[in-house]
Amino acid sequence: MSQIKAVRGTRDLLPPETELWNAIEATARGVFRRYGFGEIRTPIFEDTQLFARGVGEETDIVAKEMYTWEDRPRAQSEKAQMLTLRPENTAGVVRAYIEHKLGDTGLLQKLYYIGPQFRRERPQKGRYRQFFQIGAEVIGPVSAGSESPLRDAEILEMLATFLDELGVRGWTLELNSVGSAEDRPRYVEALREALTDVAPTLCVDCQRRAVTNPLRVLDCKVLEDQEKINALPKMADFLDEDSRAHFAAVLGALDACGVPYSVNPRLVRGLDYYTRTTFEFTHGGLGAQNALLGGGRYDGLSEAIGGPKAPGIGFAIGADRLVLTLQAAGSTVAGDAEGALLDVYVAPIGDAQQSDALVLARELRRAGLRVELGDGSFRLKKSFEVGNKIARSIVLFGEDEAKSGIVTVKDFKTGQQTKVARSELAGILRKT
Ligand code: HAM
Repeated sequence: MSQIKAVRGTRDLLPPETELWNAIEATARGVFRRYGFGEIRTPIFEDTQLFARGVGEETDIVAKEMYTWEDRPRAQSEKAQMLTLRPENTAGVVRAYIEHKLGDTGLLQKLYYIGPQFRRERPQKGRYRQFFQIGAEVIGPVSAGSESPLRDAEILEMLATFLDELGVRGWTLELNSVGSAEDRPRYVEALREALTDVAPTLCVDCQRRAVTNPLRVLDCKVLEDQEKINALPKMADFLDEDSRAHFAAVLGALDACGVPYSVNPRLVRGLDYYTRTTFEFTHGGLGAQNALLGGGRYDGLSEAIGGPKAPGIGFAIGADRLVLTLQAAGSTVAGDAEGALLDVYVAPIGDAQQSDALVLARELRRAGLRVELGDGSFRLKKSFEVGNKIARSIVLFGEDEAKSGIVTVKDFKTGQQTKVARSELAGILRKT
Protein backbone atom coordinates (compact mmCIF):
# COMPACT_ATOMS: atom_id res chain seq x y z
CA MET A 1 0.00 0.00 0.00
CA SER A 2 1.22 3.47 -0.75
CA GLN A 3 2.65 5.39 2.16
CA ILE A 4 0.77 8.40 3.48
CA LYS A 5 2.99 11.43 3.99
CA ALA A 6 2.61 14.83 5.68
CA VAL A 7 0.88 17.25 3.30
CA ARG A 8 3.14 19.51 1.18
CA GLY A 9 4.20 22.57 3.16
CA THR A 10 3.45 20.94 6.52
CA ARG A 11 5.92 19.05 8.68
CA ASP A 12 6.35 17.16 11.92
CA LEU A 13 8.40 18.72 14.68
CA LEU A 14 10.27 16.03 16.57
CA PRO A 15 12.38 15.91 19.72
CA PRO A 16 14.99 17.15 20.39
CA GLU A 17 14.07 20.09 18.09
CA THR A 18 10.83 20.55 20.03
CA GLU A 19 12.98 21.37 23.09
CA LEU A 20 14.15 24.47 21.21
CA TRP A 21 10.56 25.38 20.35
CA ASN A 22 9.60 25.02 24.01
CA ALA A 23 12.55 27.15 25.14
CA ILE A 24 11.61 29.89 22.65
CA GLU A 25 7.98 29.84 23.74
CA ALA A 26 8.93 29.87 27.44
CA THR A 27 11.21 32.88 26.85
CA ALA A 28 8.42 34.67 24.96
CA ARG A 29 5.91 34.01 27.73
CA GLY A 30 8.39 35.22 30.34
CA VAL A 31 9.29 38.42 28.49
CA PHE A 32 5.68 39.24 27.51
CA ARG A 33 4.51 38.79 31.13
CA ARG A 34 7.02 41.36 32.27
CA TYR A 35 5.46 43.86 29.84
CA GLY A 36 1.94 43.19 31.12
CA PHE A 37 0.65 40.88 28.38
CA GLY A 38 -1.80 38.04 28.96
CA GLU A 39 -2.41 35.08 26.65
CA ILE A 40 -5.34 34.85 24.26
CA ARG A 41 -6.30 31.71 22.34
CA THR A 42 -8.61 32.26 19.41
CA PRO A 43 -10.09 29.54 17.15
CA ILE A 44 -8.02 28.05 14.33
CA PHE A 45 -10.83 28.76 11.85
CA GLU A 46 -12.99 31.82 11.47
CA ASP A 47 -15.69 33.23 9.23
CA THR A 48 -14.02 33.97 5.88
CA GLN A 49 -15.41 37.51 5.97
CA LEU A 50 -13.17 38.32 8.95
CA PHE A 51 -10.07 38.02 6.79
CA ALA A 52 -11.66 39.44 3.63
CA ARG A 53 -12.62 42.61 5.51
CA GLY A 54 -9.75 42.66 8.02
CA VAL A 55 -6.68 41.67 6.01
CA GLY A 56 -8.08 42.96 2.70
CA GLU A 57 -9.56 41.33 -0.44
CA GLU A 58 -6.72 42.67 -2.61
CA THR A 59 -3.89 41.14 -0.60
CA ASP A 60 -2.10 38.01 -1.81
CA ILE A 61 -3.06 36.32 1.45
CA VAL A 62 -6.81 36.70 0.92
CA ALA A 63 -6.84 36.56 -2.88
CA LYS A 64 -4.64 33.49 -3.29
CA GLU A 65 -3.43 31.83 -0.13
CA MET A 66 -6.34 31.02 2.18
CA TYR A 67 -7.66 27.55 2.94
CA THR A 68 -11.37 28.20 2.62
CA TRP A 69 -14.32 25.84 2.47
CA GLU A 70 -18.07 25.87 2.66
CA ASP A 71 -19.33 24.45 5.94
CA ARG A 72 -22.20 22.07 5.26
CA PRO A 73 -25.41 23.42 6.87
CA ARG A 74 -26.87 21.11 9.55
CA ALA A 75 -30.45 21.92 8.65
CA GLN A 76 -31.95 22.90 5.31
CA SER A 77 -33.08 26.19 6.82
CA GLU A 78 -29.49 27.09 7.67
CA LYS A 79 -27.30 28.99 5.25
CA ALA A 80 -23.95 27.51 4.31
CA GLN A 81 -21.12 29.45 5.94
CA MET A 82 -17.73 30.07 4.36
CA LEU A 83 -14.93 29.25 6.80
CA THR A 84 -11.18 29.81 6.59
CA LEU A 85 -8.15 28.42 8.42
CA ARG A 86 -6.59 31.51 9.95
CA PRO A 87 -3.75 32.88 7.79
CA GLU A 88 -2.79 35.23 10.64
CA ASN A 89 -4.04 36.03 14.13
CA THR A 90 -4.46 39.81 14.37
CA ALA A 91 -7.94 39.83 12.81
CA GLY A 92 -9.04 37.05 15.20
CA VAL A 93 -7.72 38.92 18.24
CA VAL A 94 -9.50 42.13 17.21
CA ARG A 95 -12.70 40.14 16.57
CA ALA A 96 -12.43 38.71 20.10
CA TYR A 97 -11.74 42.20 21.49
CA ILE A 98 -14.98 43.41 19.91
CA GLU A 99 -17.03 40.32 20.74
CA HIS A 100 -16.07 40.36 24.44
CA LYS A 101 -16.41 44.16 24.68
CA LEU A 102 -12.89 44.38 26.08
CA GLY A 103 -12.89 48.09 25.24
CA ASP A 104 -15.55 48.67 27.91
CA THR A 105 -12.87 48.23 30.56
CA GLY A 106 -11.44 51.56 29.40
CA LEU A 107 -8.00 49.96 29.69
CA LEU A 108 -5.43 48.97 27.12
CA GLN A 109 -5.64 45.28 26.24
CA LYS A 110 -2.26 43.60 25.88
CA LEU A 111 -2.71 40.13 24.43
CA TYR A 112 -0.26 37.55 23.10
CA TYR A 113 -0.75 34.32 21.21
CA ILE A 114 1.29 31.31 20.12
CA GLY A 115 -0.05 29.00 17.45
CA PRO A 116 -0.28 27.68 13.91
CA GLN A 117 -1.32 29.78 10.90
CA PHE A 118 -2.08 28.57 7.37
CA ARG A 119 -1.23 30.04 3.97
CA ARG A 120 -1.13 28.22 0.65
CA GLU A 121 2.26 29.59 -0.38
CA ARG A 122 4.97 27.92 -2.45
CA PRO A 123 6.95 26.01 0.21
CA GLN A 124 10.67 26.71 0.51
CA LYS A 125 13.22 27.16 3.28
CA GLY A 126 11.53 29.21 6.01
CA ARG A 127 8.19 29.20 4.19
CA TYR A 128 5.56 26.62 4.99
CA ARG A 129 1.82 26.17 4.51
CA GLN A 130 1.33 25.49 8.19
CA PHE A 131 3.68 27.72 10.15
CA PHE A 132 3.78 29.04 13.69
CA GLN A 133 3.55 32.57 14.97
CA ILE A 134 4.29 34.08 18.34
CA GLY A 135 2.50 37.40 18.31
CA ALA A 136 1.15 40.15 20.48
CA GLU A 137 -1.33 42.99 20.14
CA VAL A 138 -1.93 46.18 22.15
CA ILE A 139 -5.39 47.52 21.52
CA GLY A 140 -7.88 49.79 23.25
CA PRO A 141 -9.95 52.94 23.17
CA VAL A 142 -8.16 56.17 22.27
CA SER A 143 -8.80 57.39 25.85
CA ALA A 144 -6.60 54.51 27.11
CA GLY A 145 -3.67 55.84 25.12
CA SER A 146 -3.80 53.24 22.33
CA GLU A 147 -2.66 55.76 19.71
CA SER A 148 0.42 56.85 21.61
CA PRO A 149 3.73 56.48 19.75
CA LEU A 150 5.16 55.22 23.02
CA ARG A 151 3.17 52.01 22.52
CA ASP A 152 4.93 51.49 19.18
CA ALA A 153 8.32 52.07 20.78
CA GLU A 154 7.50 49.83 23.75
CA ILE A 155 6.55 46.95 21.43
CA LEU A 156 9.76 47.36 19.43
CA GLU A 157 11.88 47.60 22.57
CA MET A 158 10.19 44.44 23.91
CA LEU A 159 11.06 42.60 20.69
CA ALA A 160 14.69 43.69 20.93
CA THR A 161 14.75 42.44 24.53
CA PHE A 162 13.18 39.13 23.53
CA LEU A 163 15.71 38.54 20.74
CA ASP A 164 18.59 39.54 23.04
CA GLU A 165 17.36 37.17 25.73
CA LEU A 166 17.26 34.30 23.23
CA GLY A 167 20.76 35.18 22.11
CA VAL A 168 19.77 36.07 18.52
CA ARG A 169 22.55 38.25 17.13
CA GLY A 170 22.71 40.21 13.90
CA TRP A 171 19.07 41.22 13.47
CA THR A 172 18.04 44.42 11.72
CA LEU A 173 14.96 46.46 12.55
CA GLU A 174 13.50 48.28 9.56
CA LEU A 175 10.57 50.59 9.96
CA ASN A 176 8.43 52.99 8.04
CA SER A 177 5.22 54.95 8.33
CA VAL A 178 2.51 54.12 5.80
CA GLY A 179 0.44 57.08 7.01
CA SER A 180 -3.13 57.42 8.14
CA ALA A 181 -6.20 56.14 6.31
CA GLU A 182 -6.40 59.57 4.68
CA ASP A 183 -2.71 59.80 3.68
CA ARG A 184 -2.56 56.42 2.00
CA PRO A 185 -5.05 56.92 -0.87
CA ARG A 186 -3.29 60.18 -1.82
CA TYR A 187 0.02 58.35 -1.96
CA VAL A 188 -1.38 55.37 -3.87
CA GLU A 189 -2.83 57.80 -6.43
CA ALA A 190 0.56 59.50 -6.89
CA LEU A 191 2.23 56.12 -7.18
CA ARG A 192 -0.30 54.96 -9.75
CA GLU A 193 0.30 58.08 -11.78
CA ALA A 194 4.09 57.77 -11.65
CA LEU A 195 3.77 54.11 -12.61
CA THR A 196 1.83 54.74 -15.82
CA ASP A 197 5.13 55.64 -17.49
CA VAL A 198 7.49 53.43 -15.49
CA ALA A 199 5.51 50.18 -15.11
CA PRO A 200 5.92 48.95 -18.73
CA THR A 201 9.72 48.93 -18.16
CA LEU A 202 9.47 46.86 -14.96
CA CYS A 203 9.20 43.09 -14.43
CA VAL A 204 5.93 41.33 -15.33
CA ASP A 205 4.92 41.03 -11.67
CA CYS A 206 5.30 44.79 -11.23
CA GLN A 207 3.31 45.45 -14.38
CA ARG A 208 0.45 43.50 -12.83
CA ARG A 209 0.90 45.07 -9.38
CA ALA A 210 0.89 48.57 -10.87
CA VAL A 211 -2.73 47.93 -11.82
CA THR A 212 -3.99 45.75 -8.96
CA ASN A 213 -2.09 47.07 -5.91
CA PRO A 214 0.57 49.71 -6.72
CA LEU A 215 2.00 49.63 -3.16
CA ARG A 216 3.23 46.07 -3.77
CA VAL A 217 5.58 47.37 -6.49
CA LEU A 218 7.73 48.71 -3.64
CA ASP A 219 8.24 45.08 -2.52
CA CYS A 220 9.87 44.07 -5.83
CA LYS A 221 13.19 42.24 -5.41
CA VAL A 222 14.20 42.12 -9.11
CA LEU A 223 17.65 43.70 -9.34
CA GLU A 224 17.16 45.61 -12.61
CA ASP A 225 13.99 47.29 -11.28
CA GLN A 226 15.50 48.72 -8.12
CA GLU A 227 16.80 52.04 -9.40
CA LYS A 228 13.49 52.92 -11.04
CA ILE A 229 11.50 51.92 -7.98
CA ASN A 230 13.72 53.95 -5.67
CA ALA A 231 12.95 56.98 -7.83
CA LEU A 232 9.16 56.61 -7.38
CA PRO A 233 7.30 59.01 -5.01
CA LYS A 234 7.97 58.30 -1.29
CA MET A 235 5.27 57.74 1.32
CA ALA A 236 7.13 60.10 3.67
CA ASP A 237 6.26 63.04 1.41
CA PHE A 238 2.55 62.28 1.70
CA LEU A 239 2.25 62.04 5.47
CA ASP A 240 0.05 64.63 7.15
CA GLU A 241 1.33 66.62 10.13
CA ASP A 242 -0.05 64.14 12.72
CA SER A 243 1.43 61.06 11.07
CA ARG A 244 4.77 62.81 10.64
CA ALA A 245 4.89 63.82 14.32
CA HIS A 246 3.77 60.34 15.38
CA PHE A 247 6.57 58.67 13.43
CA ALA A 248 9.15 61.16 14.72
CA ALA A 249 8.05 60.40 18.29
CA VAL A 250 8.43 56.63 17.71
CA LEU A 251 11.96 57.13 16.39
CA GLY A 252 12.80 59.48 19.28
CA ALA A 253 11.67 56.93 21.86
CA LEU A 254 13.71 54.18 20.16
CA ASP A 255 16.77 56.45 20.25
CA ALA A 256 16.12 57.10 23.95
CA CYS A 257 16.27 53.40 24.81
CA GLY A 258 19.06 52.62 22.40
CA VAL A 259 17.23 50.23 20.06
CA PRO A 260 19.00 50.38 16.68
CA TYR A 261 16.83 50.73 13.54
CA SER A 262 16.87 51.91 9.99
CA VAL A 263 14.02 53.66 8.20
CA ASN A 264 13.04 51.85 5.01
CA PRO A 265 10.68 54.03 2.95
CA ARG A 266 9.76 51.01 0.81
CA LEU A 267 8.51 48.84 3.69
CA VAL A 268 4.79 48.45 2.92
CA ARG A 269 3.97 44.93 4.17
CA GLY A 270 1.44 42.52 2.74
CA LEU A 271 -1.67 43.24 4.81
CA ASP A 272 -4.07 46.10 4.16
CA TYR A 273 -4.94 47.01 7.75
CA TYR A 274 -1.76 48.90 8.51
CA THR A 275 -1.71 52.60 9.31
CA ARG A 276 1.27 54.70 10.36
CA THR A 277 4.10 52.57 11.86
CA THR A 278 5.06 49.34 10.06
CA PHE A 279 8.14 47.30 10.81
CA GLU A 280 10.07 44.13 10.18
CA PHE A 281 13.01 42.49 11.91
CA THR A 282 15.14 40.70 9.35
CA HIS A 283 18.07 38.32 9.70
CA GLY A 284 20.74 37.82 7.07
CA GLY A 285 21.15 34.11 7.84
CA LEU A 286 17.63 33.31 6.63
CA GLY A 287 18.18 33.70 2.88
CA ALA A 288 15.29 34.76 0.64
CA GLN A 289 12.67 34.56 3.40
CA ASN A 290 14.60 36.90 5.65
CA ALA A 291 11.73 38.41 7.69
CA LEU A 292 11.98 37.05 11.20
CA LEU A 293 8.92 38.97 12.25
CA GLY A 294 6.65 41.75 11.10
CA GLY A 295 4.03 44.06 12.45
CA GLY A 296 2.64 47.51 12.70
CA ARG A 297 -0.18 49.78 13.72
CA TYR A 298 -3.80 49.18 12.61
CA ASP A 299 -5.88 52.11 13.83
CA GLY A 300 -8.90 51.30 11.63
CA LEU A 301 -9.07 47.49 11.81
CA SER A 302 -11.68 47.26 14.56
CA GLU A 303 -14.06 49.53 12.64
CA ALA A 304 -13.39 47.63 9.39
CA ILE A 305 -14.80 44.48 11.02
CA GLY A 306 -17.77 46.18 12.65
CA GLY A 307 -16.34 47.24 16.02
CA PRO A 308 -15.81 50.52 17.84
CA LYS A 309 -12.83 52.75 17.23
CA ALA A 310 -9.94 50.86 18.80
CA PRO A 311 -6.45 51.68 17.53
CA GLY A 312 -3.85 49.00 18.01
CA ILE A 313 -0.36 47.85 17.25
CA GLY A 314 1.20 44.42 17.23
CA PHE A 315 3.57 41.96 15.65
CA ALA A 316 3.97 38.31 14.78
CA ILE A 317 7.24 36.42 14.95
CA GLY A 318 7.72 33.57 12.48
CA ALA A 319 8.65 30.89 15.02
CA ASP A 320 9.83 28.49 12.28
CA ARG A 321 12.29 31.14 11.09
CA LEU A 322 13.42 31.92 14.62
CA VAL A 323 14.18 28.22 15.12
CA LEU A 324 16.19 28.15 11.85
CA THR A 325 18.16 31.21 12.97
CA LEU A 326 18.94 29.78 16.39
CA GLN A 327 19.89 26.38 14.96
CA ALA A 328 22.25 27.99 12.45
CA ALA A 329 23.90 29.90 15.30
CA GLY A 330 24.38 26.69 17.34
CA SER A 331 22.15 28.05 20.09
CA THR A 332 22.13 26.34 23.47
CA VAL A 333 18.97 28.01 24.83
CA ALA A 334 17.38 24.57 24.93
CA GLY A 335 20.47 23.05 26.58
CA ASP A 336 23.28 21.03 24.97
CA ALA A 337 23.40 17.39 23.91
CA GLU A 338 24.55 16.28 27.36
CA GLY A 339 21.67 18.10 29.01
CA ALA A 340 19.26 16.21 26.77
CA LEU A 341 20.33 12.88 28.34
CA LEU A 342 18.07 11.29 30.95
CA ASP A 343 19.42 10.96 34.50
CA VAL A 344 19.24 7.21 34.64
CA TYR A 345 18.32 4.03 32.82
CA VAL A 346 16.81 1.44 35.16
CA ALA A 347 17.65 -2.02 33.77
CA PRO A 348 15.63 -4.93 35.17
CA ILE A 349 17.63 -8.13 35.00
CA GLY A 350 15.14 -10.81 34.01
CA ASP A 351 11.41 -10.61 33.34
CA ALA A 352 10.62 -11.36 36.97
CA GLN A 353 12.14 -8.03 38.05
CA GLN A 354 10.12 -5.99 35.57
CA SER A 355 7.40 -4.79 37.93
CA ASP A 356 9.78 -4.20 40.86
CA ALA A 357 11.94 -2.12 38.52
CA LEU A 358 8.85 -0.13 37.58
CA VAL A 359 8.38 0.61 41.30
CA LEU A 360 12.02 1.79 41.55
CA ALA A 361 11.59 3.98 38.43
CA ARG A 362 8.43 5.42 40.00
CA GLU A 363 10.34 6.32 43.20
CA LEU A 364 13.09 8.06 41.21
CA ARG A 365 10.66 9.88 38.91
CA ARG A 366 8.65 11.09 41.90
CA ALA A 367 11.94 12.40 43.31
CA GLY A 368 12.20 14.55 40.16
CA LEU A 369 14.69 12.52 38.15
CA ARG A 370 14.37 11.81 34.44
CA VAL A 371 14.21 8.05 34.12
CA GLU A 372 13.79 5.43 31.39
CA LEU A 373 12.75 1.93 32.33
CA GLY A 374 14.57 -0.85 30.48
CA ASP A 375 13.27 -4.23 29.43
CA GLY A 376 13.70 -7.39 31.50
CA SER A 377 14.20 -9.52 28.39
CA PHE A 378 17.33 -7.57 27.34
CA ARG A 379 20.72 -9.16 27.87
CA LEU A 380 23.03 -7.11 30.10
CA LYS A 381 25.09 -6.03 27.08
CA LYS A 382 22.02 -4.66 25.30
CA SER A 383 20.83 -2.80 28.43
CA PHE A 384 24.24 -1.10 28.65
CA GLU A 385 24.14 -0.18 24.95
CA VAL A 386 20.66 1.33 25.10
CA GLY A 387 21.29 3.04 28.45
CA ASN A 388 24.50 4.60 27.15
CA LYS A 389 22.63 6.18 24.25
CA ILE A 390 19.91 7.85 26.25
CA ALA A 391 21.02 8.32 29.89
CA ARG A 392 23.91 9.54 32.00
CA SER A 393 23.92 6.40 34.15
CA ILE A 394 22.46 2.94 34.51
CA VAL A 395 21.06 1.12 37.55
CA LEU A 396 21.03 -2.66 37.44
CA PHE A 397 18.07 -4.22 39.18
CA GLY A 398 18.07 -8.00 39.55
CA GLU A 399 16.76 -10.47 42.09
CA ASP A 400 19.70 -9.85 44.50
CA GLU A 401 19.22 -6.09 44.35
CA ALA A 402 15.50 -6.42 45.03
CA LYS A 403 16.20 -8.59 48.08
CA SER A 404 19.18 -6.69 49.53
CA GLY A 405 17.99 -3.16 48.79
CA ILE A 406 21.48 -2.43 47.44
CA VAL A 407 21.70 -1.54 43.74
CA THR A 408 24.61 -1.10 41.34
CA VAL A 409 24.94 2.24 39.54
CA LYS A 410 27.31 2.96 36.69
CA ASP A 411 28.13 6.48 35.56
CA PHE A 412 28.68 6.28 31.78
CA LYS A 413 30.92 9.32 31.62
CA THR A 414 33.42 8.37 34.35
CA GLY A 415 32.94 4.63 33.96
CA GLN A 416 32.70 4.39 37.74
CA GLN A 417 30.52 1.63 39.15
CA THR A 418 29.24 1.82 42.77
CA LYS A 419 26.88 -0.04 45.06
CA VAL A 420 24.36 2.16 46.87
CA ALA A 421 21.36 1.68 49.14
CA ARG A 422 18.11 2.04 47.24
CA SER A 423 16.96 4.71 49.73
CA GLU A 424 19.95 6.90 48.86
CA LEU A 425 19.84 6.37 45.10
CA ALA A 426 17.83 9.48 44.15
CA GLY A 427 20.10 11.77 46.20
CA ILE A 428 23.26 10.31 44.66
CA LEU A 429 21.94 10.44 41.08
CA ARG A 430 20.89 14.05 41.55
CA LYS A 431 24.45 15.02 42.46
CA THR A 432 26.22 13.25 39.58
P1 HAM B 1 3.17 38.73 8.42
O1 HAM B 1 4.29 39.62 8.01
O2 HAM B 1 2.27 38.23 7.36
O3 HAM B 1 2.36 39.53 9.51
O4 HAM B 1 3.75 37.49 9.20
C1 HAM B 1 4.61 37.68 10.31
C2 HAM B 1 5.76 36.71 10.25
O5 HAM B 1 5.28 35.37 10.13
C3 HAM B 1 6.68 36.88 9.05
O6 HAM B 1 7.63 37.90 9.28
C4 HAM B 1 7.33 35.52 8.98
O7 HAM B 1 8.39 35.43 9.91
C5 HAM B 1 6.21 34.59 9.43
N1 HAM B 1 5.58 33.97 8.26
C6 HAM B 1 4.65 34.48 7.43
N2 HAM B 1 4.30 33.59 6.48
C7 HAM B 1 5.04 32.48 6.71
C8 HAM B 1 5.15 31.20 6.07
N3 HAM B 1 4.41 30.87 5.02
N4 HAM B 1 6.04 30.30 6.59
C9 HAM B 1 6.80 30.61 7.66
N5 HAM B 1 6.72 31.79 8.32
C10 HAM B 1 5.87 32.72 7.84
C11 HAM B 1 1.26 39.07 10.17
O8 HAM B 1 0.89 37.92 10.12
C12 HAM B 1 0.59 40.08 11.04
N6 HAM B 1 -0.60 39.46 11.66
C13 HAM B 1 1.54 40.61 12.08
C14 HAM B 1 0.92 41.65 12.95
C15 HAM B 1 0.46 41.47 14.20
N7 HAM B 1 0.67 42.90 12.61
C16 HAM B 1 0.08 43.52 13.63
N8 HAM B 1 -0.09 42.67 14.59
